Amino acid sequence: MENKKKSVLNFKKMKGNEKITYVVLYDFHSAKLAEKAGVEMILVGDSVGMSIYGYDGTEPVTMDQMIYHSEAVRRGALNTFIIGDMPFGSYTNDKNAVANAVRFYKEAHVDAIKLEGGRRVAGQIEAIVKNGMNVMGHLGLTPQSSGQLGGFKAQGLTAKSAKEVILDALAVQEAGAFAVLLEAVSMEVGQMVAKALDIPVLSIGAGMYCDGQLLLDVDLLGKTSVFEITFVKKFVNIEPLVLKGFQDYVKEVKAGTFPKEEHCYNMKPFEFEKLLKLVAMNKEDMKKKKYEIRLCSCKK
Ligand code: KIV
Repeated sequence: MENKKKSVLNFKKMKGNEKITYVVLYDFHSAKLAEKAGVEMILVGDSVGMSIYGYDGTEPVTMDQMIYHSEAVRRGALNTFIIGDMPFGSYTNDKNAVANAVRFYKEAHVDAIKLEGGRRVAGQIEAIVKNGMNVMGHLGLTPQSSGQLGGFKAQGLTAKSAKEVILDALAVQEAGAFAVLLEAVSMEVGQMVAKALDIPVLSIGAGMYCDGQLLLDVDLLGKTSVFEITFVKKFVNIEPLVLKGFQDYVKEVKAGTFPKEEHCYNMKPFEFEKLLKLVAMNKEDMKKKKYEIRLCSCKK
């Protein structure tokens, strides 16, 4: 696999020519494997709130949590384009939007940030871009405002709602974003937006006509069975394997078959002999169920 980090210019050139591969993940080891597999973009998503912390939604996720996870992912994928996801409440105005985007860049060395919303956050996108940072927009099903959308529901299914998504996408491009992510919108809207915009349009549940695809690692690897989602394909299903791993561990510890000698450290025999003298014991004492350790006062 090619191991050179791609830039926003590479992604622009790929539009219409080559699909962009993009995953959401949150930790060092997954980042390392994704990079090794040739994934070109990683989003450290605020879905960490649900996938890792067990929250009901993304709203409780803090900037500090996002920075910790982004730093870990950066260390695991030095040659991959990494995007930090601005959590709920971190871009309510231009000032906090720029300050929090700067935190992602300075502390976690990301290559871009992502934020949710179209026309209503065009000002914040413009402010962040004017300060030299890359922004990806996020439209359609926007989890941070899922309450306003009436839940985690697909968008752009009616002509009226589709038009809103298209207008938002144009506004995000106009504000200077380098790419747009469409989540859970109809295939038709995915296709129309991808054709209408000059910048790459990524899909997570927006169909095959977009310029690239995104899935959460927890979904595509079958790490969780919390939700059944239309746009998810489980490429492997590791949940039963993880469960079996834990079950076998419990069984072996209880049975005393783990650990074996190969899992243990050994003292050199002469050190052990010395220790027996230091604690005034002999090998027979060691075989007893219970014995008393008497530390002798000698220095050697
Ligand atoms: O946080 C996240 O994982 C996301 C994706 C669902 C797009 O924003």
